[in-house]
Amino acid sequence: MELLVGLFDSGVGGLTVLRRVTERHPHSRCLYLGDTARVPYGSRSPEEIRQIAAEVVRWLRAEEVGVLVMACNTCNALALDVAVSEAAVPVLGLIDSVATVIKSDRVGVLATPATAASGAYRRAIHASRPMAVVTEVGCPEFVGLIEAGHRDSDVLRRVAQAYLAPLLAAEVDMVVLGCSHYPLLRPLLTELLPAGVELVDPALAVVERLGPLLGSLGESPEVERRTELVLPLQQRSRLCVTGCPDTFAAGAEDWLGHRPAVEHVDLRTAARAF
Ligand code: DGL
Repeated sequence: MELLVGLFDSGVGGLTVLRRVTERHPHSRCLYLGDTARVPYGSRSPEEIRQIAAEVVRWLRAEEVGVLVMACNTCNALALDVAVSEAAVPVLGLIDSVATVIKSDRVGVLATPATAASGAYRRAIHASRPMAVVTEVGCPEFVGLIEAGHRDSDVLRRVAQAYLAPLLAAEVDMVVLGCSHYPLLRPLLTELLPAGVELVDPALAVVERLGPLLGSLGESPEVERRTELVLPLQQRSRLCVTGCPDTFAAGAEDWLGHRPAVEHVDLRTAARAF
């Protein structure tokens, strides 16, 4: 049995999670939805985010995903319960996965305004390190700039310096990339932070939990799989968007290493299915 792994985000950011999934589980088949018609999520109200999460997860369910990986921290922070109840399949979260990789008591979190305001990362880190000082910074400008193709522009540098200032003042030695768009800024953030500050991508922790989950759902262990069955990412992953496919394909290229085929979809088809 080959399960379809579903992932979603507001835009290209969740591709950073998709890539981790396909690197670590090269046999997996994935369905990715970028809800680009509604990006950014992170400046919306909790009610809107929960409504959006319900619609998107309903669509993924209609497409028969067998497991759902939250590739959007904002939906993870504000609507994990919604995703769990709509998905009807196991759901893996980014935020509860991060605790396993935090090895410091001075932790910074860069996230969308909605995620930072929710305190979800602080709670997840305190669950395993109650003494940790967690400095969470909401970064309203990052997602718009990343979706517009910025990776190292003057304006991006200026906003990044402002967002990093509270983390430098708190002398953090780990910084969680608490929005799936932010791994795309890793080179810039590494340059702007003091040497020795570690950037943590929660997706790396999620993919470690995915293998055992797939195994428990009946997937054969990876070691027993034949290597000739490993397909390139573009043949294993179906990428769909609610906005413009060409814009998404162009934005995806630098992270995936190729320009992917992208389909436009209408989420209302799922509303009719249930
Ligand atoms: N990449 C998403 C996240 O991890 C959403 C960002 C946004 O649309 O604001 O939070």
